Amino acid sequence: MTMIKSGVYVHIPFCLKKCAYCDFLSHRPRSLEVNEYMEALAKEIERFKVEGQTLFIGGGTPSIVPPSLMERLIKKLDKQYGPFLEATIEVNPGTVDLDYLKMLYDLGIDRLSIGVQSFDDDTLKKMGRIHSSNEAQEAVLKACEVGFTNISIDLIYGYPQTTIKTLEETLKTAISLPISHVSFYGLQLEEGTELMKERPQMLSDKEYVGMYYRGMEVLEASGFMQYEISNFAKPDFECKHNLIYWKNLEYLGLGVGAVSRLGKVRYKNIESVLTYVKSIEDGARTLLVEEQLTAPVILKENIMLGLRLKEGIGPNELGGFSLDDLYPEAVALLSGAGYLEQFNQLGVNRYRLTKKALPVMNSVLSYFF
Ligand SMILES: C[S@@+](CC[C@H](N)C(=O)[O-])C[C@H]1O[C@@H](n2cnc3c(N)ncnc32)[C@H](O)[C@@H]1O
Ligand code: SF4
Repeated sequence: MTMIKSGVYVHIPFCLKKCAYCDFLSHRPRSLEVNEYMEALAKEIERFKVEGQTLFIGGGTPSIVPPSLMERLIKKLDKQYGPFLEATIEVNPGTVDLDYLKMLYDLGIDRLSIGVQSFDDDTLKKMGRIHSSNEAQEAVLKACEVGFTNISIDLIYGYPQTTIKTLEETLKTAISLPISHVSFYGLQLEEGTELMKERPQMLSDKEYVGMYYRGMEVLEASGFMQYEISNFAKPDFECKHNLIYWKNLEYLGLGVGAVSRLGKVRYKNIESVLTYVKSIEDGARTLLVEEQLTAPVILKENIMLGLRLKEGIGPNELGGFSLDDLYPEAVALLSGAGYLEQFNQLGVNRYRLTKKALPVMNSVLSYFF
């Protein structure tokens, strides 16, 4: 039997404090909750046999897991699914010191994704972050000191009451640091968040899009190539794990709320830590959703995900067809309006979104559905 080759995602649903804008599946853990969860996770890991291509430990804030428990988790993942081509962990600058970073490095983690959001102290305060700009910069420098050569930072633009000037300062600091990758996210105002409750005055579309374009400009001028709508990397530092998602390949998700795509089925785990731990203890399944992916659904997903990427989509992702074979009218309309462009890669016709289309991607995609 050949083993499935897949990305492996592990969800750690805990944070020290919820940030004002964030609706990710995470909360402040009650006492012993982390231990119980990590115990259950170890058992869930044993339930699957896959050949892990990439590993991504995400959250929440994986770096609030105490060192001994984190060490056990990483060793277990490595034994069950390793070796990995790339092993990433998300860290919050307010939760890591040199020893923790060194432990991660020594355990074979070779990529760090640091949640920075901004290098402006005022903005960090508004966001409810638990660290200062200096602490974020120190986290990057310490990671570099222990040996990490593949460091990514997350930044958020478009936060209420921020200006293009503070964003430019943040970008300036970012490009001065030893990093190889930037995830540059536009703020999404999410239901149920503190920020939503504050009913903030949002920036205008013009300001928001202006910030996005300014980010693209500064990052590209500094050698970070945009390879996805929100992601920029120095050559060869694209995130291999996230590319598995965007190319709609197979991945195994472990832990609460984690999504897997194995074969032609998508699974999603239950979201409650309590129910998850109990299900694992009882030897029961942990699934909330199981969805059979039909050919039309896969095609639609390939278009949605593929158009996020600079390499766009072509016959490989479209069952041997070109986008204009499948959607001649939408392609003609969007190309005519300057939102879609055709290009040739190794003799094959492909389509991608133009820079003009990136800020309005959702409206553009709606032409295909
Ligand atoms: C799991 S967190 C990263 C690690 C760690 N929890 C931290 O925040 O430092 C994933 C990233 O998603 C982004 N994010 C979360 N909520 C967002 C929102 N409402 N709008 C835009 N980006 C968001 C942030 O940039 C955040 O760093
Ligand atoms: S942004 Fe990161 S630290 Fe903040 S609440 Fe979300 S997951 Fe937790």
